[in-house]
Amino acid sequence: MKVTVVGAGAVGASCAEYIAIKNFASEVVLLDIKENYAEGKAMDLMQTASLNGFDTKIVGSTNDYSKTSGSDIAVITSGIPRKPGMTREELIGINAGIVKTVATSLVAASPNVILIIVSNPMDTMTYLAHQATGLPKRRIIGMGGALDSARFKYRLAEALDCPQSDINGMVIGGHSDKGMVPLTRLATRNSVPVSKFISDERLNEVLEATKVGGATLTGMLGTSAWYAPGAAVSSLVQSIACDQKKMFPCSSLLEGEYGLNDLCIGVPVILGSNGIEKIVEIELSEAEQNKLNESAEGVKATNALLTQTS
Ligand code: LAC
Repeated sequence: MKVTVVGAGAVGASCAEYIAIKNFASEVVLLDIKENYAEGKAMDLMQTASLNGFDTKIVGSTNDYSKTSGSDIAVITSGIPRKPGMTREELIGINAGIVKTVATSLVAASPNVILIIVSNPMDTMTYLAHQATGLPKRRIIGMGGALDSARFKYRLAEALDCPQSDINGMVIGGHSDKGMVPLTRLATRNSVPVSKFISDERLNEVLEATKVGGATLTGMLGTSAWYAPGAAVSSLVQSIACDQKKMFPCSSLLEGEYGLNDLCIGVPVILGSNGIEKIVEIELSEAEQNKLNESAEGVKATNALLTQTS
């Protein structure tokens, strides 16, 4: 199993690190445009192999896509991250051109590759990857929901004062401060609805903190977060690489599912060796469906900016 990670910044390097530590891939190629940068990160990470007990070979490349050839999965993290006070949508002008070039170069080197998009604005970049490469919809996956759901579980565990392993919950919708739809109604602590443990007011605070999870960290760190994004990507990659068929909310091209069309947005999917094995349509309440529809309008408005930037 060969995995490429494009972008050796904090998110890309953290993806490569978690993939290697989980020890399921034979090779990870880390690629960046900055001369020798990916090679340096790859060497540093390889020097942790004996300490962290992994056998995955990590190779660096300065923009040489021939090194990525034959990749089964490729992760696109390239582009600029948010600065404090910025929305993910504001990155579109610069990131659209980068993601388009990277996606087409990856597919040229690895025609059977499955793409995972991390660059922001993520739902729009996932849609752009479809337009740029024409790959079947099962082979382009946007990473946002898995990260947002992890942040939701963190906030829920904090509010319930319990371990995160007791919590189950999911965030669907767009990967944006306004577009996320944390499904509080369905969140549980060991099958018991979380609403049995905390007040509606506290649950609402959890919901709001989840939606600005990325922005909160950007304000604290001065740039966007990397550990949880890297861990979320590595879980998606592992589910595909090991055909685990796990369910994650991921940005997927919708063709009528959830009553939505012609956009990529976060919905629950099953990830296996074919990429998106299935889009799972769960029954939403009227309020949840309305929020998802509103979120879809926001994503479509950002998608419309693609024609102005291309
Ligand atoms: C975040 C970025 C990766 O939410 O979108 O941290």
